[in-house]
Amino acid sequence: MKKTVLVSGGAGYIGSHVTVELVEAGYDVVIADNMSNCDDTCLRGVREITGRDLPFYRMDFCDAKAVEQLFSDVRIDAVIHFAAYKAVGESVAEPVKYYLNNLTSFLNVLDAARVHGCNVLFSSSATVYGEPDKLPVTEESPRQSATSPYGNTKQMCEDFLRDSVKAYPEKIRGIALRYFNPIGAHPSALIGELPRGVPNNLVPFITQTASGIRECLSIFGNDYPTPDGTCQRDYIDIVDLAKAHVCAVRRMLDGKMESGYEIFNIGTGRPVSVLELVNTFERVNGLKLNYRFAPRRAGDVTAIWADPSLAERKLGWKAGRSLDETLKSAWEWEKHIRGIK
Ligand code: UD1
Repeated sequence: MKKTVLVSGGAGYIGSHVTVELVEAGYDVVIADNMSNCDDTCLRGVREITGRDLPFYRMDFCDAKAVEQLFSDVRIDAVIHFAAYKAVGESVAEPVKYYLNNLTSFLNVLDAARVHGCNVLFSSSATVYGEPDKLPVTEESPRQSATSPYGNTKQMCEDFLRDSVKAYPEKIRGIALRYFNPIGAHPSALIGELPRGVPNNLVPFITQTASGIRECLSIFGNDYPTPDGTCQRDYIDIVDLAKAHVCAVRRMLDGKMESGYEIFNIGTGRPVSVLELVNTFERVNGLKLNYRFAPRRAGDVTAIWADPSLAERKLGWKAGRSLDETLKSAWEWEKHIRGIK
């Protein structure tokens, strides 16, 4: 029988790409989203790519009754939890809003999983490693104390999952995927990242500068102790990232886990500097970007990239798309949503 996967936050950037890959892998997918941070662009895109009208629940995961009702109505084999706020700066300004939303929603998922029995995949972040002492980071690298409430919610939710698995081993198995920097869009250009207002993240700022919405990209800091002075990150293609979720869900559902709770880094293993990313974007898309160097941004780490070998060994997953392809897809998506030919 086909297994059913619930994707909370499934109308968003990562959730929509994961939904597409799950459907293509043969899973039944139920999408749930409160639409607080997106419109229905990606939902429509998912429908067009998959040719399916997937079950959609407009609901808030902070509503414990609604979550319980959904788990009572639908037999859910695994849940992937994306429904959360994600702006680092805003989380510093409004910690209570972040803690209330991100912690409550995940606790409601865990409570339903505890009652009904369910595999849980949590979308964590490389932010849990802070400024690492040793690079690349492995899953054994120590977590550092979080520098933002957003980062803190990622650490706390990982711990909620670990403790729940330990307490209810018959009911819950869990995987936390620690994403590095997800970028790019689906090759169809029908789904992608749609930030509201001024983008905080690098690639949306680049594409909006290229399309003329932003005048100039500020590169935050060129005096870091890195080869070209700009920060280094591990930029992971969104479709590759989505495929990692399919591998993790399969591992849980096929009973292949070696312990009740597992953690995997999801990255390429390759550091890329801000300048290198900008230059690659210009080259592959035949564009010139207006950019300037600006002071460092508070809270940025100098460099971080993954050792993704555990995911390769255990999940059978490896990043495949090149940075060139990924940055082309980011620009195709921007052109699609802005109506640029
Ligand atoms: C941040 C979060 C991370 C989250 C990720 C995706 C932290 C510390 N970081 O990562 O948890 O998963 O976003 O949402 O919590 N840059 C510029 N100009 C810009 C924007 C960015 O130069 O206009 C630079 C930054 O200084 C950084 C790099 O680009 O060196 C990547 O920045 P960004 O895309 O915001 O991601 P992170 O800060 O790495």
